[in-house]
Amino acid sequence: MSDEGSVTGSRVTLHVVSSLDGFIAKKDNSVSWMDMPGSVYESGASVTEEEAAAFVKAIDCYVLGARTYEHALELGWPYGDTPTVVVSSREWPSARGSVEFYAGDLEALIKTKLAPRFRNIWLVGGAMLCQRFLEFGLVDEIRLMVAPVLLGDGLRLFGSLPTEEQWHLKNVVAYRNGFVELTYAAPAR
Ligand SMILES: NC(=O)c1ccc[n+]([C@@H]2O[C@H](COP(=O)([O-])OP(=O)(O)OC[C@H]3O[C@@H](n4cnc5c(N)ncnc54)[C@H](OP(=O)(O)O)[C@@H]3O)[C@@H](O)[C@H]2O)c1
Repeated sequence: MSDEGSVTGSRVTLHVVSSLDGFIAKKDNSVSWMDMPGSVYESGASVTEEEAAAFVKAIDCYVLGARTYEHALELGWPYGDTPTVVVSSREWPSARGSVEFYAGDLEALIKTKLAPRFRNIWLVGGAMLCQRFLEFGLVDEIRLMVAPVLLGDGLRLFGSLPTEEQWHLKNVVAYRNGFVELTYAAPAR
């Protein structure tokens, strides 16, 4: 598969941070374990602030579930002014200008609403929404950041899927803070 999305011409990247034992949040919702100072992996890569900013700038649109949206508001909005779609069946009070709410078919969200406008679409959680996207074959790339921590319990990243799928490893980056990023491309569909 090329770097572009298989169907839409744009690409949907699922990006989450997982513990070593496969959790994306603790039972109490906390994600502070992501920022814990850990041991240093000497030969790991480090990223300058400029590199990080350039990377984020290349993201055209974020998609997130309603619970992740609520948590992001509590923690301090991390998505800046980048267009962001919150998937929710509820009515919400008006939000910042870059945020729009969407209820309905997820395939239509990507193929009809977002793909014509955006090239680099990032699905950033939570577990429930990621699961639906995977079930419907709407993810072109998975970027899984594995944190060097065992949480023991919490919200599992992946649930059960209807079929087995062979994904293709595209890249592995180990960072100085002990995190490892695994990038996989979806199977041809
Ligand atoms: N470690 C990480 O990288 C990471 C990333 C993101 C989130 N998180 C954490 O994960 C937790 C939230 O994840 P979550 O799995 O509980 O919830 P979520 O996926 O963020 O949101 C689920 C909600 O989205 C709405 N929704 C509407 N249509 C949907 C559809 N077709 N499929 C799925 N959801 C739909 C529903 O709310 P309505 O009732 O409004 O319809 C549903 O309850 C938070 O603690 C957050 O901090 C961690």
